[in-house]
Amino acid sequence: MIIAAVITAAGSGTRLAASSPDGAVPKALVTLDGRALVAWAVTRIADVAERIVVTAPALHVDAVQSALADAGVDALVVPGGDTRQASVAAGLSALALDDDDIVLIHDAARAFQEPAVAAATIEAVRAGADGAIPVLPVVDTLIGAPGPDGVIGEPVDREGIRAVQTPQTFRAAVAIDAHRRGAAPGAPPATDDATLARALGHRIVAVAGHEWGFKVTRPSDLPLAHHIARSLSGDGA
Ligand code: CTP
Ligand code: MG
Repeated sequence: MIIAAVITAAGSGTRLAASSPDGAVPKALVTLDGRALVAWAVTRIADVAERIVVTAPALHVDAVQSALADAGVDALVVPGGDTRQASVAAGLSALALDDDDIVLIHDAARAFQEPAVAAATIEAVRAGADGAIPVLPVVDTLIGAPGPDGVIGEPVDREGIRAVQTPQTFRAAVAIDAHRRGAAPGAPPATDDATLARALGHRIVAVAGHEWGFKVTRPSDLPLAHHIARSLSGDGA
């Protein structure tokens, strides 16, 4: 039984690049305190996973491999797909897992997630869950989207919902089955892996997430990302 990880880094980072003078750089290769975003993600997940596959944009496989080598971390880099779901499927297939292995599925964009959170998801799966995901309470007030007249919809009880992070961790057989069936013609699209697995009846539990597991998405996320990168470099991470 091994602990393995797919780190998805094959997106283009459209929202991050929107205001950047160099929009050609994919998000995974944006540098934070001298280390590419994807290398930060691999560095932190390597604390808990012994085999890691990274999905890269097809045109940037070599550049991602070099960024990992520059950071002194090791992972197999494979081309991703057109959607995150397709990229995860490519990563799972490259890992060549046994059914009883445990696999973490993690967004490179959540590069600073605390390793303790990843470890908690693994513990939950070891304890018998089919899958485990980190979640956080929602801090904003939530409402139904306004209609065409601009009038707001019903309030949503935020106590009853949670925001979902990664890594999402599964028994390998569960992740492989969820992605095989999720890719079937007519299957509803899902933005995360736990949704696919839950739809098949698997028991997915939640563990406490961490604020550092935020997804680097927009330019305004970069100051916090730089701050965390600098503080981790200061720790000798
Ligand atoms: N991802 C991927 N393959 C895709 C699309 C996304 O591996 N075809 C990865 C991204 O690299 C990222 C994670 O999935 O680590 C979450 O996606 P997101 O934050 O949306 O990143 P991007 O798709 O790159 O950004 P954007 O949507 O702004 O273009
Ligand atoms: Mg995206």
